[in-house]
Amino acid sequence: MADKRLSHTYDSEEFRRYGHELIDILADYLREATSRSDMPVLDYREPDDLVKEFEFDNPENRELPLDGFIRKVVAGMNHLHHPRFVGHQNTPPLTAGIIAQMCTTLLNNGVAVYEMGPASMAAERNVIRYISGLIGFGREADGIFTHGGSAGNLTGLLAARQAMSEYNVWEEGVRSDTPAGIIVSDQSHYSISRNARVIGLGGTSVIRIANDSRYAMRTDLLEETRRRAEDKGIKVICVAANACSTATGTYDNLEEIAAFCRENRLWFHVDGAHGLGVLFSDKYRHLVKGLEHADSVVLDFHKMLLTPGLNTMVLFRDGRRSYETFAQKAGYLFEKHDSNEWYNGAKRTLECTRSALGIVAWAVINYYGKEALGKYVESRYDLALRFAGAICREKGMELAVTPESNIVCFRYAPEGTPTHKLNDLNRMIRKELVHSGEFYIVQTELDGNIWMRTALMNAMTDDSDLQRLLGSVRKRGDELTQLLT
Ligand SMILES: Cc1ncc(COP(=O)(O)O)c(C=O)c1O
Repeated sequence: MADKRLSHTYDSEEFRRYGHELIDILADYLREATSRSDMPVLDYREPDDLVKEFEFDNPENRELPLDGFIRKVVAGMNHLHHPRFVGHQNTPPLTAGIIAQMCTTLLNNGVAVYEMGPASMAAERNVIRYISGLIGFGREADGIFTHGGSAGNLTGLLAARQAMSEYNVWEEGVRSDTPAGIIVSDQSHYSISRNARVIGLGGTSVIRIANDSRYAMRTDLLEETRRRAEDKGIKVICVAANACSTATGTYDNLEEIAAFCRENRLWFHVDGAHGLGVLFSDKYRHLVKGLEHADSVVLDFHKMLLTPGLNTMVLFRDGRRSYETFAQKAGYLFEKHDSNEWYNGAKRTLECTRSALGIVAWAVINYYGKEALGKYVESRYDLALRFAGAICREKGMELAVTPESNIVCFRYAPEGTPTHKLNDLNRMIRKELVHSGEFYIVQTELDGNIWMRTALMNAMTDDSDLQRLLGSVRKRGDELTQLLT
């Protein structure tokens, strides 16, 4: 190789040296981030300022991206390992998963076809069987890994469209004279309604159903909703349920939805991207009773199973659905075969090259096991309940809904403050908390009200951190109220 930098790249001793240095820097970072030091959770910088820091170096000064570069990256990121990170549903991953992913990053196999990454497909196969068993699916179940829950939901809905169409929708495209509909919870993740549009069903196919006071789908409205859609000429093909929802972490009643789908011959899709960690827990498994009746199920390992992202599994109760969804000829990839080749992944996803996701999920399950992962899920769900109790005991603080998972929504709400002012106040409190670096917390809107939202992902976050959060919210809320009056 002519260029010195390129030729050095494959020098194993140089790689070893840089690898050791990298691990040392990251281990130091890990120690600080987990120590409840004064390190900000997020050192917030305005977007345009940060862009300037990442302008390309002068070619003469280019170094291999180590020390300075890694420190710059780490400093410019949100720190999920910090116990006061209580924001989005991103996880500080477990070491076994990180090591597996580092390994697969160097090997860099794209597992479109078996021959490119046999070990990954074999590991993927066993994880699919294992999770199928936890759900209670039979031997005919099958599935595939995708990069993320949004792609997983897309795969599930495509299978639904294919299975429920009375014509060859794959070849002919969606016909405008037979509009299809998907009944979705008012609280479903936006990827469901976005994907309905992506697969050509259009916005009118998304039939929203009201939620109850828990923010769960009103199953008593299912029949009426279906009939009203059909009166408008829309043929309902699928119901998409949450296990659990993104905003409040609420589980839909899967048993009732399954029974409705069975009676009406509809596809039953369960978006369990966040909440299917309960499959590992004896204590909370009951929240997904009825899951075994689902036609398609999405589970994100990179959310409640502490796996580096992106790492998602889509499972089908009847595995044949997974094969017919993308029944497309791609002769250069596959030799002609009548049998379903589980080991050629590209036959069953929209992605061609995929990372070796199966190995990473396998490493996490194999090393930590059901009990440890279940204990983690239980500890976060239990913590959410205790946090909810603390919120209810605080005067002037309001809980949106009793948590069913590790997601808790609450707001600063001193008595007598009008709604529009509460919304402004809570937005401002959140922004101050985030910009100060003390906490990372997000917000959500429910029925026109702004709530602060915590997803308790970090295994090190404890009651004292959450008590401190309530104290900080109160202090900032009181100060802002003074300022605004
Ligand atoms: C319920 C639910 N479904 C799907 C998704 C999308 O998953 P991903 O971010 O992996 O694409 C999310 C993300 O937060 C989610 O909460």
